[in-house]
Amino acid sequence: VDPSPLQDFCVADLNSTININGFPCKNSFDVTSEDFFYDGFKERPGEFNIFDVNVTQADVRQFPGLNTLGLSMNRVVLKPGGLNPPHVHPRASELSRVADGKLLAGWVTTGNVFYWKILTSGDLFVIPPGLVHFQLNIGEKRARFFASFNSQNPGLQIVSTALFNSTPPILDEVLSKAFQVNHSIVELIRSGFAPAL
Ligand code: GLV
Ligand code: MN
Repeated sequence: VDPSPLQDFCVADLNSTININGFPCKNSFDVTSEDFFYDGFKERPGEFNIFDVNVTQADVRQFPGLNTLGLSMNRVVLKPGGLNPPHVHPRASELSRVADGKLLAGWVTTGNVFYWKILTSGDLFVIPPGLVHFQLNIGEKRARFFASFNSQNPGLQIVSTALFNSTPPILDEVLSKAFQVNHSIVELIRSGFAPAL
């Protein structure tokens, strides 16, 4: 949950070289209506990744008017069988609405309880902050949903790539112990991600 703003707006100056918690405000003489609108969701999704999903982000980096406002949104498009793989947002809860298609969405508590449901157009679902969650397209057509976050910069960490495609790689010894498998299986899993995403 982001801190509350102390002014009406603080459009991000993305070019600033000052590092603070968030972005410094653009000079208000340079602020225009354009700063408060974002049309990136009107564009067709570009590349689908190896998981057959395309995520278009509208966080403070793409939409500088969000700076200090504690909100952002993603559009997620999945091919049939596409998976938005298990991931976390370290700084936000997520509230999503399905626009098209049929999804299986689920998340796991810190006590390893798995909650899930099959969702269709119009359904909403919520993910508590920082917990592992995913969405799988189980329909025959493309599925699409819009995710909103209570942070201008929710962050996104994909569990499988964080562990098996980091730079530099995590020691095999760590992953083999953590997953209770031998090193050749760790290498096999790694090979699915190489070269880097
Ligand atoms: C969906 O879970 C997303 O983070 O965009
Ligand atoms: Mn998410």
